[in-house]
Amino acid sequence: MEAEPMEVEGPQDALSRPKKTDDASANDAMPWVEKYRPKSLSDVAAHKDIIDTISRLTKENRLPHLLLYGPPGTGKTSTILAVARQLYGSSGYQNMTLELNASDDRGIDFVRQQIQDFASTKRIFSSGFKLVILDESDAMTKDAQFALRRVIEKYTRNTRFCMICNYVSKIIPALQSRCTRFRFAPLGPDAVSERLSHVVTAERLSVTEDGLKAVVTLGMGDMRRTLNILQSTSMACAGKVVGQTDVYSCTGNPLPSDIEKIAHALLNEDFKAAFDHVQGLKLDKGVALVDIVQQLTPWVFRVNIPTKVRIELVEALADIEHRLAFGTSDRIQLGALVGSFVLAKSEIVKAAV
Ligand SMILES: Nc1ncnc2c1ncn2[C@@H]1O[C@H](COP(=O)(O)OP(=O)(O)O)[C@@H](O)[C@H]1O
Ligand SMILES: [Mg+2]
Repeated sequence: MEAEPMEVEGPQDALSRPKKTDDASANDAMPWVEKYRPKSLSDVAAHKDIIDTISRLTKENRLPHLLLYGPPGTGKTSTILAVARQLYGSSGYQNMTLELNASDDRGIDFVRQQIQDFASTKRIFSSGFKLVILDESDAMTKDAQFALRRVIEKYTRNTRFCMICNYVSKIIPALQSRCTRFRFAPLGPDAVSERLSHVVTAERLSVTEDGLKAVVTLGMGDMRRTLNILQSTSMACAGKVVGQTDVYSCTGNPLPSDIEKIAHALLNEDFKAAFDHVQGLKLDKGVALVDIVQQLTPWVFRVNIPTKVRIELVEALADIEHRLAFGTSDRIQLGALVGSFVLAKSEIVKAAV
């Protein structure tokens, strides 16, 4: 997208994306997340039940107000864009859809003006309802949400609203009750792998099986993140075969073998030795503590240790990750990490005797 000439960005921009795919060079410069955005509902991976229901409602022209929520990169925006395409065809949806997202003003005036202007204009040549897509609606102020409640009621006759957000708890109950809610869970490894294989084939990449597995693991069920990792790694490898090590090192993540080494040091060495060991590895490989902590967590779940110790370790790791997210010192948090493993070690020894 960045490589394209600057245009005045209108609210319908996301919807006009497919037109640009006609242009082969623009298509090449596109980030893969846009290039491989599902064009129709049947292209959306996973969420079969949700897609079936929405597809049926769309076909029968009985679409209710929708609230799609769940973590990023799970297909919420893609789903509603595909619905708009199915409802209005590629030529009609510019007039029939209003798409607003978090970069727009979310104040009370915004709700009253933009949405009311759009929703209240009469349809002249087309029939059916219009669609207002409020992407990232959890960024709306409470006042704007209250204002929206009245707007929804007023224009229900000729307009359907689709709210999209990550945190459903940030949407006021009065709005939630006006919508049919669908939760988009993180994509399972199988669905991600299948979609990835499609992109790998279309882009004629050579990626080893371990490489693909690493992309899936690091993507953590977020398809946007997954595709970005695949694109940056394959660009860095420039035509060479992409392997597991490439994926981890390109994204600055510690290799599984590094995590094993770190875990071994943490559980077997004393405080000072373990601290120096992990600090050395961290500097040597240029990895961030937060990535180490994130990858140690599944390791703690896997390894055979007493349940009580596992619980304490998971809690400690969660606290450290939380504190790191707020920008606290890496050094102090590394101390906390080593400390919690030293405590865990003494518990394990106690449990064994
Ligand atoms: N369920 C899915 N099936 C196929 N591709 C997906 C899916 N979810 C996300 N993607 C990919 O990730 C990108 C971002 O998806 P998007 O629908 O914008 O996610 P969300 O709105 O849930 O954050 C899409 O362009 C698409 O390439
Ligand atoms: Mg989105």
